Amino acid sequence: MNTTVATLREKKQKNEKITMLTAYDYLMAKIIDEAGIDLILVGDSLGMVVLGYETTLPVTIEDVLYHTKAVARGVKSAMVVADMPFLTYQADKVEALRNAGRFLQEGGAQAVKIEGGELMAETVDFLTKRGVPVMGHIGLTPQSVNQLGGFKVQGKDIKQARQLIKDAQILEEAGVFSIVLECVPYPLAKMITEKVSVPTIGIGAGPYCDGQVLVIQDLLGYFEAAAKFVKKYTELGKEIKRAVVEYIEEVQNGKFPTLENSYSLSPSVLEELKKG
Ligand code: KIV
Repeated sequence: MNTTVATLREKKQKNEKITMLTAYDYLMAKIIDEAGIDLILVGDSLGMVVLGYETTLPVTIEDVLYHTKAVARGVKSAMVVADMPFLTYQADKVEALRNAGRFLQEGGAQAVKIEGGELMAETVDFLTKRGVPVMGHIGLTPQSVNQLGGFKVQGKDIKQARQLIKDAQILEEAGVFSIVLECVPYPLAKMITEKVSVPTIGIGAGPYCDGQVLVIQDLLGYFEAAAKFVKKYTELGKEIKRAVVEYIEEVQNGKFPTLENSYSLSPSVLEELKKG
């Protein structure tokens, strides 16, 4: 069954957990879609895990659009959510609509994600009333890393915690279909999840959210170091390095390729060739 805004809401009502992962290319999107994931996020995290930037700030609309198109080509059932990059939606709601529209029209996404709470409510309202499904994102919002003073847990003091609850409620009123809670203490994430009717998707926000999201490279163990909230389900970083080292050695030692990995030529053609 295809994931829609309605099926996500239904999952929350039935207490069924929602699953989301990031993907940035056709093949990975195809694999995780076939595995049964509900949502695929073409995150602006691609700036850090694909393009090698220190933060998500340099990511452009063309970057996310390019990767969204590739992902959409690999997906049959999951909902594809495109992450709107820094400065593509903050300055002006009309510009936000034009940019969001590109992800749906050109990119093949079904929804967009934008960072920010109360301050983004007017934009969310503007987009959703014009047919663009919006996923909110509060707590640690990486596009504000310079304002937040680093990648830190958010909502630890009473003022911040109250503001996050308010942000979630205002986003819900503005029309988001779901809210990502990133790096929020789990009792606060639980409280927010109980207070809003739209599904919450946690990353570093504990087990009581309606769903979970991880960056695919984190889950697959591409990196040695990982944040506390990451669970590595395999160690592909090490495994890829091991395989590549073995390949280098075998090529250098003449062990690869063998004739089994090679194409033969019919004896008659070979004979003719030898005659010159
Ligand atoms: O860009 C991203 O991958 C994200 C997730 C971490 C939620 O925003």
